[in-house]
Amino acid sequence: MQTTLCLIKPDATKRKLAGPIIQHLEAEGFSIAAIRRVQLSKAAARAFYAVHRERPFYEDLVDFMTSGPIFALVLQRADAIAHLRTVIGATDPKEAAAGTIRAKFAASKQENCVHASDAPETAAVEIPFFFSTADLLA
Ligand code: CMP
Repeated sequence: MQTTLCLIKPDATKRKLAGPIIQHLEAEGFSIAAIRRVQLSKAAARAFYAVHRERPFYEDLVDFMTSGPIFALVLQRADAIAHLRTVIGATDPKEAAAGTIRAKFAASKQENCVHASDAPETAAVEIPFFFSTADLLA
């Protein structure tokens, strides 16, 4: 079993897509090990996406991610990190494979409904960004 972080972004929560997205994730065999509704501050969004700080879209991304509540989920499954990346699809929904969450629901490269950790080292930083050890005890 492996765990990974998934964020359901403000565009999805605004459009009441949290339910359909969670249903899709559960149908793919993920269990929800932890879940929180979070309103990110600008400082928290900047810190979470610090790896992108030199990118031209960084401040727009921070504005977008703070524009409404998000849901943070720790998802558990065999091969969770790689499988979740497959299930969400490419960053740009126009390039996302048919049937993926972004192909089904996302509007644009920025407003792409979900985030998923891209590697074990990333998940190891991103999960504790949102959850404490006590939240993750079975
Ligand atoms: P995510 O997988 O959360 O990782 C970084 C986020 O930045 C990405 O999803 C998009 O929301 C956003 N993003 C990535 N590339 C672009 C881009 N070219 N223009 C605008 N936003 C982007």
